[in-house]
Amino acid sequence: QNVAQFFVPMKWEDNIPVVSVFDIFKWGAVDIPMERLLQSKLTDVFTGGFQDITGVPVFILLHRYMALSPIYKLCIGPRSVVVISDAVAVKHILRSEVGKYDKGILAEVLKPIMGKGLIPADTITWLTRRRQLKPAFHQKWLHDQLTLYSTVGNRLVAFLAARPGQTIDMQERFCSASLDIIGKAVFNYEFGSITRESPVIQAVYAVMREAERRASSIVPYWQLPGGTREFDQHMKVLDDVLTSLVEQCVQQVSTEEDEEPQKGNNSLLRFLVEARGQDVTNQQLRDDLMTMLIAGHETTAATLTWALHELTKPENRDFLKRVKAEVDSVLGLRDFITLDDVKQMPLVRYSLVEALRLYPAPPMLIRRCLKEDHLTGVGPFSAGMTIKPGQDVMLATWSLNRDQRLWGPDADKYNPLRFYTAVHGSPEYKAAGWAGFDPARVRGLYPDENAADFGFIPFGGGGRKCMGDQFAILESSVLLSMLLRDFSFEAADTVTLGMGATIFAKEGLMMKVTARPPQPPDQDEASPVAVASDALLSSVA
Ligand code: HEM
Repeated sequence: QNVAQFFVPMKWEDNIPVVSVFDIFKWGAVDIPMERLLQSKLTDVFTGGFQDITGVPVFILLHRYMALSPIYKLCIGPRSVVVISDAVAVKHILRSEVGKYDKGILAEVLKPIMGKGLIPADTITWLTRRRQLKPAFHQKWLHDQLTLYSTVGNRLVAFLAARPGQTIDMQERFCSASLDIIGKAVFNYEFGSITRESPVIQAVYAVMREAERRASSIVPYWQLPGGTREFDQHMKVLDDVLTSLVEQCVQQVSTEEDEEPQKGNNSLLRFLVEARGQDVTNQQLRDDLMTMLIAGHETTAATLTWALHELTKPENRDFLKRVKAEVDSVLGLRDFITLDDVKQMPLVRYSLVEALRLYPAPPMLIRRCLKEDHLTGVGPFSAGMTIKPGQDVMLATWSLNRDQRLWGPDADKYNPLRFYTAVHGSPEYKAAGWAGFDPARVRGLYPDENAADFGFIPFGGGGRKCMGDQFAILESSVLLSMLLRDFSFEAADTVTLGMGATIFAKEGLMMKVTARPPQPPDQDEASPVAVASDALLSSVA
């Protein structure tokens, strides 16, 4: 596309370039087959079925508009949203001026599901709950979860081993594994979804799909009479389970006061029940659990799905060899993976983080401005933009993560080693206030938003940053390393991107899975020792 043609004619509001959703069709940036247009229903446009009509996920459309400017206002019928994919502006909104924004439309659609859980919570509730929930993710609890990750990992290995040479939807398997893990870790509930189906599991997915549809819908169709019958039924199934788990736990803790505490229930719920003050109701605990269930389940599964998808591409064969060599040398034949093991497998961790860069979960962060805000001196093109109260804002993580000005000309390429070697960023971007990505600033298990000065926000950043980042990195490292040690994977079909709360493979991630015999540690040609001698790498591991 010729960028100049995007700008003519260009409207500006508060110094922000304005485009309409129809411009993209005018520019020919989206090619919709006539057949698809005729088949689609007009109501789809307004009820979140945009991708069904265009065949293109929303974040890819938004990325095409980015040729205009890293900050623009997109008008969609009566609604408008300021789309931002500029690291300096992202840092301003997530960290410096976090109090000027709330979760807007996201909070509205999630409230019926998560109530006053952290993600949709208003600022006052959020402040109190965040302070009370943070200690629940303490180091010991996290370390204890490693046994759970391995237990579920072994279940997944057994499932695949019983189906030699078959084609398996690995995305579905990852969803099952992460659902089993989050259920047990957060509220001591056995979904057992690797091996069975149940109405509770169906309800989890139905509720999540409905939340996604509502978030991308222009009209609140769910407020129409009878518009929520099916959703209400699924919610009832989930509510009954969560409410009874909370009641059971409260009962258990109160009867145990004088006795020896019950062994085997090391869940987050138990910690919260034991630590709760007078003001925390059972309903609040239920909302917290529901939030964790939804926030920590498909996100992790998506990360594993895209890491496996990329690692098994022919062009990444040499890198995969190095990852396997690392896994073989660290894990040997052990069934239970420790924290030290994960620390010693930087290639595994960075394979996952690079997957998060290319396929961020969620692909955009949603905010609404509460108090007038000024974005001054942000980005190379912007000189003072005003965001008015009530304005919806979207931080376009997908575009940020693929911005060549930050990541260099190979921004679209899967290259986990970039985190050791790359300090990208164009001079103009750095002049605009972006400090750059610095491998020396990587402190924990993965390069977070601080190492990248908000040019990379895999788990968000600032006050509302993800609470489960370490949990997710540990969980996915354990599962991926066990699978790469025990199996070889070969893509059995092409993959089409779809968008919901995460980016997913629309027809699944179909893989031919074959058992991989145990390898002597130093057999592979690319020894992990050679990699580990890299000074940067050993400093982050
Ligand atoms: C928030 C990503 C796993 C719990 C967030 C946010 C992101 C994110 C980007 C910030 C949303 C925003 O600012 O609007 C991810 C990814 C994960 C993951 C990519 C997996 C790879 C988890 C897990 C848990 C969890 C495993 C719980 C065990 C939460 C909670 C919040 C959150 C509670 C809300 C924090 C707040 O508002 O204070 N996550 N997450 N996440 N995440 Fe995660």
